[in-house]
Amino acid sequence: MARIAVLLLMVLAVAVAEAAFICNGPLNQQAGAKCVAYTRTGADKEPSAECCKAYKAHVESAKTVAERRALCACVQNNDRTNPGNNITKVDSLQGKCGLPFLFSAARGFDCNT
Ligand SMILES: *[C@@H]1O[C@H](CO)[C@@H](O)[C@H](O)[C@H]1NC(C)=O
Repeated sequence: MARIAVLLLMVLAVAVAEAAFICNGPLNQQAGAKCVAYTRTGADKEPSAECCKAYKAHVESAKTVAERRALCACVQNNDRTNPGNNITKVDSLQGKCGLPFLFSAARGFDCNT
């Protein structure tokens, strides 16, 4: 009985930890919507303040190493399924929005570093 309780607690803990970062949640949708003029259509030569705000909120929602890896995989996946995004520009968002470099959206980049 005690063993089952411990097992249940562990499952619960994992579930809670994973809930903290959501790959395709509202933060990601916001960032995508605000940054598309820069990363995809090229209408904006530089990311707008709104884009940076939304992008930062999304990136900063990934706090732990595991969450950042999930974020990296998430961005890479999204760019693979939405080929319209310019990866160079997606990658430049971190620098242009005042974030430290965390990951690259390019396929060759290993998210586990
Ligand atoms: C992506 O953007 C960069 C910088 O503006 C540009 O040099 C490059 O040609 C673009 N790549 C594609 C595939 O549009």
